[in-house]
Amino acid sequence: MSERIRILLEEEEVNQRIQELGAAISRDYEGKQVHLICVLKGGVFFTCELAKRITVPVSLDFMSVSSYGDDTKSSGVVRIVKDLDESIENKDVIVVEDIVDSGRTLSYLLENLKSRKPKSLRLCTLLDKPDRRVVPVNVTYTGFEIPDEFVVGYGLDYAQRYRNLPYIGIVELD
Ligand code: IMP
Ligand code: MG
Repeated sequence: MSERIRILLEEEEVNQRIQELGAAISRDYEGKQVHLICVLKGGVFFTCELAKRITVPVSLDFMSVSSYGDDTKSSGVVRIVKDLDESIENKDVIVVEDIVDSGRTLSYLLENLKSRKPKSLRLCTLLDKPDRRVVPVNVTYTGFEIPDEFVVGYGLDYAQRYRNLPYIGIVELD
């Protein structure tokens, strides 16, 4: 089976929106330091672009989680593949994700992080598919709400490919 990628969000549009999110975070956290937690692997491109556009002091950490279940449906039971290097106690934390889909992975992750006593904990996602939500998740910063389509690019993959596309595209199977 072969696939084609149809552009949903052009590179320019994505960059412009990330600029706006960076400005909003810089305003909201004025006088503070933000601790960004990048959720690997999908969040890595977005985290880098976002961090470059934040003007208050930024520190970074990385976490990798894997959801039990099949490839198309996350079960909500999450295994931490790579945990944070540093404690988040008393830090102003923003979790940076590529996409919120059912919300299962993130609601688990946020509960886990909350128990580590950050000073504050917010979520920033590049994309949100609200139609797919099963578990409610409180998202503070959203790049784009998109329809229920399978998308790739800017960190998002299809069978581990296309993460490096500088735009967001919809996968169309022939
Ligand atoms: P959730 O637990 O269902 O919210 O799962 C979210 C995770 O599923 C994301 O972090 C992505 O890794 C993956 N995912 C959901 N939708 C897409 C998509 O359209 N393209 C690529 N990956 C996706
Ligand atoms: Mg992901």
